[in-house]
Parts: sequence; C-alpha cells; structure tokens
Amino acid sequence: MYTKLLIVNIIFGASFLSLSYAQSVTSISDRDLETFSEDLLKKDNSGLSSHVTYDKQGKTNAASAIDRAAKPLLNVDKKALQHPTVAALLALFDNYDPDVKNAEVVTNAEKTEESKFLDAIMGTPAMNFTYNYAKQKGLFNEDRQAFKEWLAKTWFTLYSRGFRTKSSSAFEHVFLGELKQNQVSGLHNWLFFNEQEKKNNLNYMGWMRFEDFGKGSLLKLHYTWKNVDKPVGTLFVGTSPELELSLYSICYLARAGEKCNFKLNGKPLFIQSYTFTGPKSQKLIGSIYPGV
Ligand SMILES: *[C@@H]1O[C@H](CO)[C@@H](O)[C@H](O)[C@H]1NC(C)=O
Repeated sequence: MYTKLLIVNIIFGASFLSLSYAQSVTSISDRDLETFSEDLLKKDNSGLSSHVTYDKQGKTNAASAIDRAAKPLLNVDKKALQHPTVAALLALFDNYDPDVKNAEVVTNAEKTEESKFLDAIMGTPAMNFTYNYAKQKGLFNEDRQAFKEWLAKTWFTLYSRGFRTKSSSAFEHVFLGELKQNQVSGLHNWLFFNEQEKKNNLNYMGWMRFEDFGKGSLLKLHYTWKNVDKPVGTLFVGTSPELELSLYSICYLARAGEKCNFKLNGKPLFIQSYTFTGPKSQKLIGSIYPGV
C-alpha cells in the first residue's frame, strides 16, 4: 500500500511538472521568436564578425567526394580570440574527448572553466537581454544566479549516447563536435572549426549556402573532421558565443524538441532541438543545431 501511494505521488509529481512546462511553451508565438532574435542581434555588440575573413572557394554538394576547396575556410584575427567570452570558450575546448565511447572526466579546474565561461556570458548585454526576456515571457521564473545554474545544468551535464559511458553533453555536441560510428555529429561553432582547421584535423571541402546577417553568417558546408565525412554541416561564423548560446537556450525553453523560426537582420534561419531525458529525469538537450 505504501509503495502504491509512493508511485502515485511520483507519477502525479511528474505529470504536474510536465503540465506547467507545457503551459509556458504555448505563450511564445512564432512572431515573438522572430522579434526576440532581431532584438538580440541588436544587443550583441561583440564586434567579432569584423575579425573573420572567409575563403569560401568552390561550391559543392553533400554527395560530392571532390574537394572544391584546397585552402582553409576561415582566417580569424587574434583580436577575436582575445574577446572575453571567446577566450573563456576556447579554454573549454581541450576538456573533451570527441569519441562517444570514451567517458569524459571533469576535473575541478574544468568545472571552474565552465563557471568562468558562464560568468563571462552572463555579463554580456546579449545574455542579460536574454535572461530579462525569458523572465518576462515566463520561460524562466527565477533569479539571474538560478539562470546561470540552469545554463550550467542544461549545457554541461554529462550523459551517454548509447555506449553506457558519460561521454557527451549538449555543450560538447554543439560547440565542439562528436564522433559516433564513423559519423560527425554536432560541430556548429566557428571558433572550434577554426581551431581544428589550424590543427589540420579538419578539411573544408566547399560550401552549399551562405547567409550573411551582418554580424555574422550561417554556412551550410561539406568537410571532413578527423578523416570522417560530414556531408552537410551548418556553422555559425563570426557570431559571439553569447548570441549562439542565447538562441539555442531560448529555443529550447520555448519549443523543446521542436523547431524555432528566427530572423537575424531579416534573414530567416531555424534552430531545431531534440530533447533527452537524463537518468534522474533531468530535461536535457540531446541535440540542437541551426539551419536554413
Ligand atoms: C541587465 O538588465 C537589467 C534589467 O533590465 C539592467 O538594469 C542592467 O543594467 C543590465 N545589465 C547589463 C550589464 O546590461
């Protein structure tokens, strides 16, 4: 009897939670999301896109095995790498093993780097605007400190991708990349892409689409990473880490498991998320990526 009651309570508790979650989701219209992204872009004063030049070279497609680009895609000025949120992001890149079969080991020093990254992000006008927006729209109801903690949980919680080892996180997936069964997954951030090009780990093979929104762009492209083919990848270029984290996080809060249609400087793009339920029923991001 005691056990039965307990089960009922757990089920009730869980369904109550998901109900309140669903209610907040419906309060954001597609129009709201478009307005949000345009306003966010206006708040983003990082100036990073002026420190990047592209060498797009040949156009290609997903099926082509021919390398249409002999040279690297990106040339990033040192100034970009010294930008506070970028420097804090770069510090995280050596914390991960891309193979989803290998467990991640998170040291205290790495925890500190994660926290410093989020502090730097939280201090930007773009993320401040994002927090204020989430609060005002009822997407997030607690204070700024709690929002930072929510970001930490959502982006850095480790989980398994089917190999019974805590090898993955939303952050690693999106801001770095992962290798699973001879496929590249994630890898949507230009600063990681640039670093991998510099290390000769990544071979850019040509582009398919290029949408420039003034303070950055979204590219659809073909490349290999660690000799594994990525027939179609999407990459934000010249964007600030806070802008990217904001678009992903707001989309996940507003439309978990669905698509958000955004606009940046009049250019339409979308963010698609897939949810993942962690071992302790944590609501996490399985995958999230930009597209056009
Ligand atoms: C963050 O937003 C609050 C509330 O609008 C505002 O008072 C504060 O000045 C903002 N801080 C920054 C760093 O933009």
